Amino acid sequence: MKKIEAIIRAFKLDEVKDRLWSVGVGGMTVTEARGHGRQRGHSEFYRGAEYPVDLVPKLALEIVVNDDEVERVVEAICDVARTDQTGDGKIFVTPVEEVVRIRTGERGPSAIHADVREARLQAYRRS
Ligand SMILES: Nc1ncnc2c1ncn2[C@@H]1O[C@H](COP(=O)(O)OP(=O)(O)OP(=O)(O)O)[C@@H](O)[C@H]1O
Ligand SMILES: [Mg+2]
Repeated sequence: MKKIEAIIRAFKLDEVKDRLWSVGVGGMTVTEARGHGRQRGHSEFYRGAEYPVDLVPKLALEIVVNDDEVERVVEAICDVARTDQTGDGKIFVTPVEEVVRIRTGERGPSAIHADVREARLQAYRRS
C-alpha cells in the first residue's frame, strides 16, 4: 500500500475529486496547506494576483491506495491538476505499513478497497 500526497491548486479540487472517484479511489483526506516550491512563492498567481507573501495557499490531498493503483492515480491527478503555470503542485508517494477500517477491524488492502471500484473503473474506461 502507498500513500499519495498531492499538493494542488484549490480551484482544481472538484475536478480532481471527480476524476479520482472515476478511477476507483475509495477515500481521501483534504487539508488546507500553505507552501512554496522553487520560485519560493514569488511569480505565482493566486486569484488573479501575484501572491504578496512567500507561502501560497494550496490543498494537500492524502490518498492511500494499493500498489497497483499508484500509477493510475498519479496520472489522473497530473492530467486534471495541470495548468502549465508555475505552482501547479507536487505529488509524493510513500509506503504505508497498515490500514485499519475501524468499524469492521478489516486490515490491509481490504480496508481501503471500495466494493464498487471495479464497476466505476470499467464505466470510466468506456467513457
Ligand atoms: N520539495 C517539496 N517538499 C514539500 N512540499 C513541496 C515541495 N515542493 C513543492 N511543495 C509544495 O507544493 C506546492 C507547489 O509547488 P510548485 O508546484 O510551485 O513546485 P515547483 O517545484 O516550484 O514547480 P513549478 O516550477 O512548476 O512551480 C508548494 O506550495 C508546496 O506546498
Ligand atoms: Mg513553483
